Amino acid sequence: MSDNHSQNPDLDENNSVLTDAAAATRENHMLSEGTEPISLWVILGSAMIVLIGGGVLFSGSLFDYKNFSKADYVRDDAPNSGPKEILPKTAIVAYSKIGEKKSVSCKGCHGNNGEGGSAIPPLAGSEWVNGPSMRPAMIILNGMKGEISVAGKSYNGNMPSQGAGLTAQDLAGVLNYIRTSFGNTSDKLITVEMAQKAIDATKERAGGQLTSSELNEKYNRDLEGEPLDPETLVHPKTLEPVAAE
Ligand code: HEC
Repeated sequence: MSDNHSQNPDLDENNSVLTDAAAATRENHMLSEGTEPISLWVILGSAMIVLIGGGVLFSGSLFDYKNFSKADYVRDDAPNSGPKEILPKTAIVAYSKIGEKKSVSCKGCHGNNGEGGSAIPPLAGSEWVNGPSMRPAMIILNGMKGEISVAGKSYNGNMPSQGAGLTAQDLAGVLNYIRTSFGNTSDKLITVEMAQKAIDATKERAGGQLTSSELNEKYNRDLEGEPLDPETLVHPKTLEPVAAE
C-alpha cells in the first residue's frame, strides 16, 4: 500500500512534518487587530487634513494672538522702530509697582505677606506702617533696634538700615506698597517729594539705628509735601503726572 496517501492523509505515516510546515508558511498570515499596515491613502488623507486645518487656524480668522496674551501686555517694539508709547498708570499703581520690586529684601525678614515671624514684627496691620508716614520712612532708612510693640505684641530685635542705594522714588514706592498691601489700606499717597523729606532728616541725624522712643519723640508725624490724588495718571517710570487727554 504505497499510494494510500491521497485517500487518508491523516493516517499517512509518511506524511512529513517539514512539508506541512512549508505549506503553512505559504499561507497569508492573519495579523492581529490594530497591527495591520495602513493604506497609503489614509496617510495622505490625514496629511491633507492637517495642512488645511493649520492653514485655517493660522490664517487669522479663528486664531487670534490677542486671545493668548494678557490684556495689559505691551509688546516691545522692534529695535529702531521709533519711540515706544508708554501708557500712563494711576499714581498708586505706578508707585506700588516700583515699591514691590524694592521690597524683596523686606519680605526676606517680614514674610511674603508681611506676616512677620516669632521674633520679627508684621507689616500687615502694623500701626508703624499705617500710622504717620515719617516713622516707617525713617525705620527703612536708618534701621531700628530695641523694644517695640506692634499690633499688640512686643518684640526686641534688630533691623539693619535698608537705605543703601535707595532713592526718594524707591522709598516712596516701598512706603506706598507696604501701606496698600497685606491687607493694609492707606488712601494717602506718599510722593517722591515727601519721601525726600525723610532722606533729608536722615542726613541730619548722627546715624545709627533708631529706637521706638526716638521714633515717637522726633518722627511721629506725616511726611510733608503737596498731596497727590492716588488716582492721578502718571508716567510709570518717571512718576511725573501726565496731562489727561
Ligand atoms: C534683616 C531682617 C529685616 C529686614 C531685611 C527688614 N526688616 Fe523691618 N524689621 C526687622 C526687625 C527685627 C524689626 C523689629 C526691630 C525691633 O525690634 O526694634 C523690624 C521693624 C520694622 C518696622 C516697624 C515694626 C513693624 O513691623 O511695623 C517696619 C515698618 C519695618 N521693619 C519695615 C521694613 C521694610 C519696609 C523693609 C524693607 C525695605 C524691612 N523692614 C526690612 C527686620 C527686618
